[in-house]
Parts: sequence; structure tokens; C-alpha cells
Amino acid sequence: METSDEWITSRTGIKRRHVAGEDEFTSDLAFKAVEDLLARHGDDALAGVDMVIVATNTPDALFPATAALVQDRFKLNAGAFDLLAACPGWLYALGVARGLVESGQCRRVLTIGSEALTKIVDWGDRSTAVLFGDGAGAAIVEAVPAEYGIRSMIMGADGSGAPHLHRRAVGRCLPSGEPLAEHVYMNGREVFKFAVRVMTTSTFEAIEKAGLQPAEISLFVPHQANLRIIDAARERLGLARERVIVTVDEYGNNSTASIPLALLHAVDEGRVAAGDHLLLVSFGAGLTWASSVVTWAPTAA
Ligand code: ACO
Repeated sequence: METSDEWITSRTGIKRRHVAGEDEFTSDLAFKAVEDLLARHGDDALAGVDMVIVATNTPDALFPATAALVQDRFKLNAGAFDLLAACPGWLYALGVARGLVESGQCRRVLTIGSEALTKIVDWGDRSTAVLFGDGAGAAIVEAVPAEYGIRSMIMGADGSGAPHLHRRAVGRCLPSGEPLAEHVYMNGREVFKFAVRVMTTSTFEAIEKAGLQPAEISLFVPHQANLRIIDAARERLGLARERVIVTVDEYGNNSTASIPLALLHAVDEGRVAAGDHLLLVSFGAGLTWASSVVTWAPTAA
């Protein structure tokens, strides 16, 4: 298509993306993320998991839930459901998991962000085809001592922005009567403006709700959609580059997998220590957004 490495790099910061195999789907990537979790944390890592949430925009099927396939693959004695909230889906899952654990409903919740987005992009549309990649990340949410864990959680939506970013499933039309696109449709400029705005407002809101000051945030872990969006938010927040995790160069935008993979990258690079306050923030179709301040616990590694 008519594009160039120069255009993609300068407008997005993306250098590489990962594409699932022809016969590899969101469930397969979710399985791999959980296998990686087991390899890192030992065979007992899934003990006591009583709920599985898969956040995804590209489920293998509308039903059964991809989460049910994960439950079966690992023979978990657990409930299972998928969560669709576009790119912030994994952060939404974190918020739901927190509620399930705090209420006593669940002991341990396996939250996964998994995407096979390259299967739903129009490879002839240069405005979207160069952006999206495939991937998956997994994390377990469980109770930790009060000084650690999720200190604040913001989950927002503005459905009037639906025309700017969508893809058809069962329905034919948006509420406005406009036809839904067969592949991913995105009005990049509108999403860009929304993203920069909400990354800043939602971040400040999460910090305030956590009772902290921006200077106390050790690491900023934003949704990896576009380096220019990350940089614009970073500047507005007054954060030094060293305090920001960037993986968009390596993965492109892999939606719900973006933040768990960025977190893993931070852990692997030794950039996260117990007691650190992490700021996670994401935005996407809906339009939706979510942000959270998480204080890293000693057991989480
Ligand atoms: N290669 C070359 N030229 C291109 C390409 C491409 N791949 N794509 C667009 N162009 C052209 C456009 O046609 C336009 O040409 P024109 O001036 O002749 O009309 C020109 O480049 C500039 O286009 P813009 O859309 O203004 O480019 P912009 O700087 O806004 O960058 C981008 C486009 C990268 C899509 C940006 O708007 C963006 O990142 N937006 C946010 C997208 C995003 O974060 N989405 C996440 C959604 S997450 C979810 O829920 C799935």
C-alpha cells in the first residue's frame, strides 16, 4: 500500500508488530499468556483462581466466551466471561476483578487481555492497517495488604463517540442510522484529540482519587497506541521520559493486551519495585477510557 517506514515511524512511533499465525486466534494467544504466567510463577500459580475474565475486541466467537476456553484449557474450577470495552478492556477487567475480590465473591481472578486484531483490519486501508498488532497478557488479581494494590480506578465512557471507531458484529447500523464498517473504521484525528485529552484528565483524576500527588507516581504505563499521544500526555503531566513505559515501537497497538504487556516489559526491565505507585491509563472505541493507580506489592513480580 502507499505508505512508508518514515511515515509510520514519525506519525506513530511503531517500528515492529507481531501478527498471529493464520490458524492462531485470540484464545491461542490467551493460552500462551497463561502458560508464560505459569512458567514465571510456578505450577501452582493458578491455584484458587475462581473467575476468568478475558478482555478482548476479537473473541474467537461471539459465544462461547473466550474466557470459557481458557477455563477449560487449564481445567480451572472457575466462572468465565469476556469483557468488551475496547482498548481499556483489561483495565476495566482489573476494576471488576478488584470488586469481586473485595466483596468476597472471588478469591483470585485471572484477567487476560488478548487480541488477534490483524484479522479484522482492512489491509487495504493505510489509515488503520499500519497501526494494529496481535498479542496477549495475563495477570492474577488477589488480596494484598492494605498499603498495596489498586488505590483508585476510573472507568468512563462517552457513547456519542461511537461513529469515530467501530467494527460491525451482528448489527448493521449505529444508533444514528449510519452503517457500521465491516472492518475496523477509525477517524484517527478525532480519536487522537480525544486520546490526548482523556489521558490527561483521567490520569489526574486517578491520582487525586488515590490521595497522591503527580510527583509520587513512579511509573506511567499508558495504552500503547501512538508515541505522539503518549508524549503529549507525558508533557501535560510534567513527567520525565524515564518514568514512562513505551512498547509501541515493538508491538504497535494491541488494544487490551497493551497495558499488561507494557507492565510485563517494565517488570522484566527491573523498573518496578514494591511500594512503587504505577499509573495505568487507556482509551479506545466507545469511546471509553480507564485509569488506575496501583501500588506494587512485594509478592507481585
Ligand atoms: N501512510 C502514509 N500516509 C498516510 C497513512 C499511512 N499509513 N495513513 C494516513 N496517511 C495520510 C492521510 O491520508 C493524510 O493525507 P492528506 O493530508 O493528503 O489527507 C495524511 O497522511 C495525514 O493524515 P492524518 O490522519 O492527519 O495523520 P495523523 O498525523 O493524525 O496520524 C494516526 C494518523 C496515526 C492514525 C493518528 O491520527 C492517530 O494515532 N490517531 C489515534 C489513533 C488511536 O490511538 N487509536 C486507538 C484506538 S484503540 C481501539 O479502541 C481499537
